[in-house]
Amino acid sequence: MTTRPPLIAPSILSADFSRLGEETRAVAAAGGDWIHLDVMDGHFVPNITFGPPVVKALRPHTDRFFDVHLMIAPADPYLAAFAEAGADGISVHVEAGPHIHRSLQTIRALGKRAGVALNPGTPAAMVEPLLDMVDLVLVMTVNPGFGGQSFLPGALETVSRVRTMIAERDIRIQVDGGIDPRTVEAAARAGADVFVAGNAVFKDGPAAYAERIAAIRAGAQAAGGAGPLAC
Ligand code: DX5
Ligand code: ZN
Repeated sequence: MTTRPPLIAPSILSADFSRLGEETRAVAAAGGDWIHLDVMDGHFVPNITFGPPVVKALRPHTDRFFDVHLMIAPADPYLAAFAEAGADGISVHVEAGPHIHRSLQTIRALGKRAGVALNPGTPAAMVEPLLDMVDLVLVMTVNPGFGGQSFLPGALETVSRVRTMIAERDIRIQVDGGIDPRTVEAAARAGADVFVAGNAVFKDGPAAYAERIAAIRAGAQAAGGAGPLAC
């Protein structure tokens, strides 16, 4: 069993939208491993953010992994556009429609890493039939739609169940929502190994990005990969 290093994925949802290119470069330079891009449609979630043109505009600013989290329904008509815009990984919600299996097939066929996302009210068992076709399971630790919400500890049970289900497969578990240097520890202990953080990274401006990212990473490492199969 190998222990995977934690990955920190700053969510630019909490960045200064008037300077998104600069903000993306800043969190990459500050040690962010992935850039998390939250796409919202005002239908699947009660907020609207941005689409493929913004992903494309940001692509030249960094070579970091672009982790595109689609909170949209339907997702399928837009998958190719996000892939062409420069996404490296695309996550689709299991709640976004009846054809999640097809969405994941499409993402893989586009040559991208496929992720399946679960809302806090959705049982872990929903992803079980999909585990051989994903690279990532995204467990929401807030209800999706907004940054800066409080971490929901009940979601940790979902993380542990997913960790057990994954067994020896090469799949990462991502937690998203309310992650900070304190909550990250419990999430890592439950078995998560990719940590999205918006507010906790961006809230005090660029001078603090490196320190914030380091603190979240230290919290994840402090948990010591103690999940049942933290590999
Ligand atoms: C919420 C988004 C999250 C959000 C996390 O719907 O999916 O990625 O940006 O923000 P924080 O870390 O502020 O909870
Ligand atoms: Zn997200």
